[in-house]
Amino acid sequence: MRVIIEPDYAAMSKWAANYVADRIIAANPTPEKPFKLGCPTGSSPLGLYKELIEMNRAGKISFQNVITFNMDEYVNLPEDHPESYHSFMWNNFFSHIDIKPENVHILNGNAPDLVAECENYERMILDAGGIDLFMGGIGPDGHLAFNEPGSSLTSRTRIKTLTTDTIHANSRFFEGNLDLVPKQALTVGIGTVMDAKEVLLVCNGHNKARALKHCIDGNVSHKWTSSMLQMHPHSIVVCDEAACDELTVGTYKYYLDKERGNL
Ligand code: GLP
Repeated sequence: MRVIIEPDYAAMSKWAANYVADRIIAANPTPEKPFKLGCPTGSSPLGLYKELIEMNRAGKISFQNVITFNMDEYVNLPEDHPESYHSFMWNNFFSHIDIKPENVHILNGNAPDLVAECENYERMILDAGGIDLFMGGIGPDGHLAFNEPGSSLTSRTRIKTLTTDTIHANSRFFEGNLDLVPKQALTVGIGTVMDAKEVLLVCNGHNKARALKHCIDGNVSHKWTSSMLQMHPHSIVVCDEAACDELTVGTYKYYLDKERGNL
């Protein structure tokens, strides 16, 4: 696992966006050999998406040969609801870049058969040749996508019931009303994310400090599902200073020194 510590949210977002752009450019994608990008929602990746949009506008990268697979979607929330992850992705990213709509994949939380929807999503990822780079955030309880504490670390795409913590955290998008927050979601599994060639997480703010500690400084545990990335051969966590508040001094210094070339 590589850990990048940046001074603030803006620098974290810029570092992550430059990394994603470099990977897409290096892959030199074509219609026959597209780049497969995993996409998260949440406030954490907003800056990263803004940077990618800017680079696309400036002609530095193109998404014409990029295929995306989103991490998750609420169950039973209309697709055109302003807080659906479909809306989030089109409003904050896809509508602003040159991606082909047919190359965008987002789970359908209103599918008549949710189990079949999840199985089909896994099949589509496989048929596309797997995900090259899965971007992600971390929930305050350490969840990755909607893999809540207690999720199997080998899980695949499936229906997940949200924890009370997550319902509280996400109620800020639903007028602060817990009753309006969907109680279930479809989510890629930890196993699905682990199959990606690379995984890049962004994590910012003091309210993520405990999650970051467990993700990079704790044991691999199904109680903090993002900690599974310790087992991934190419995982990167990019964070800001505030998210480091609960790391041990030794861990914090090690990662800073490593990136500065002092080690
Ligand atoms: C949701 C998403 C996660 C995301 C998390 C954190 O629960 N399913 O993928 O990482 O929120 O969101 P935020 O970045 O807004 O803190």
